[in-house]
Amino acid sequence: MAVKTKKDPAHQVGYFEKLPTHIRDLRDTPPDVFEDVSFTDWSSLRWARVNRPYKVDKWAKGKELWEQEHDQAMPVKEGWKHFNYHFHQLFLKDVPHEKKEARKELFASLGSLDVHGAGEALQELVQLLVWNKVHRVEDAIWDPRGKRALFEGLDLNKPNVLFLGAADGYEAMQLMAQYPGGHAVLVDYDAFCKTDRFGKFPLQYPFLGNNPATGSPAVYYRDDFNIDFEVKDIRDLNYGKEFDVVVSIGLIEHFPDEYKHEAFDMHRRFLKAGGYAILTTPRNQLRSRAFYTVMSDYMNYGYRELMDIYQMGLYAWENGFDILRAGYIKAHNGLICKVR
Ligand SMILES: C[S@@+](CC[C@H](N)C(=O)[O-])C[C@H]1O[C@@H](n2cnc3c(N)ncnc32)[C@H](O)[C@@H]1O
Repeated sequence: MAVKTKKDPAHQVGYFEKLPTHIRDLRDTPPDVFEDVSFTDWSSLRWARVNRPYKVDKWAKGKELWEQEHDQAMPVKEGWKHFNYHFHQLFLKDVPHEKKEARKELFASLGSLDVHGAGEALQELVQLLVWNKVHRVEDAIWDPRGKRALFEGLDLNKPNVLFLGAADGYEAMQLMAQYPGGHAVLVDYDAFCKTDRFGKFPLQYPFLGNNPATGSPAVYYRDDFNIDFEVKDIRDLNYGKEFDVVVSIGLIEHFPDEYKHEAFDMHRRFLKAGGYAILTTPRNQLRSRAFYTVMSDYMNYGYRELMDIYQMGLYAWENGFDILRAGYIKAHNGLICKVR
């Protein structure tokens, strides 16, 4: 049986710490980072009014090289393998140390008039500065405060959770901290997610949730949760309607419009009657466009849309979901839905 991570006594409500790789944030005070637009009348929205999502069209150099070498478009799954590998490297970076090294390299190249080297060093430094801001200042990727706000107040008791395209599994863990005692199945067809992104997720990372026995806040770690990770194509799952929650984080924006119904169908197929579909997608805002431009070599190995909450909600509404909660967290739009 797995040994449980020992609870750090410092990990109490209000705790905040910035590590070289990431932030730990157990603050539960305002300002909340959830901007609520749940009052929207989705039935009266029209595409002509909300426009279609923005399509990211700057590709990773690695994708272009792969395509030249193989003389074919990069297959979708291959793209995800590249994405997961490269994105994961960012989470491993000791950012302050690497920033120092990149600055040294830049000045050394400039000193020896190595223009090419200086260009590369500068690009690396800019990427580090952007990553630092997004992940170590704003904490916009994991965004525990926003996700807690999005997930709070659901009618769930020891839920059975299915996470489609789970990557590092972060949101399933946040959900299980808020609704403890349940079970989650994480599904991703890239085995690297099981072995590394989830498999090596920091064991001491604290998730703020609840203790249902006392009604008080409680802190959990990865190993406190009952999680199975299935390496499988989500289109090949053969579960029944057995999940209280089906969640995806950054999945449906990778399906062009002609396939969107398939993506939504996967959120419906395995839900118990009355279960929740929880979805988020990256926001279409200037800073997100800048992120996917500067970080293209890490991120852009396949089709990706950036949308706003009204576009996202309209997709969900058109695909047969009632929207209970809708709004913006830091970098994503979020929806809590039930099948209509
Ligand atoms: C953009 S990622 C989700 C973002 C995620 N929160 C992260 O931190 O990277 C989408 C994940 O879905 C997985 N995925 C995409 N299509 C899939 C499919 N058909 N079956 C299983 N997993 C899939 C990818 O491998 C990837 O890990």
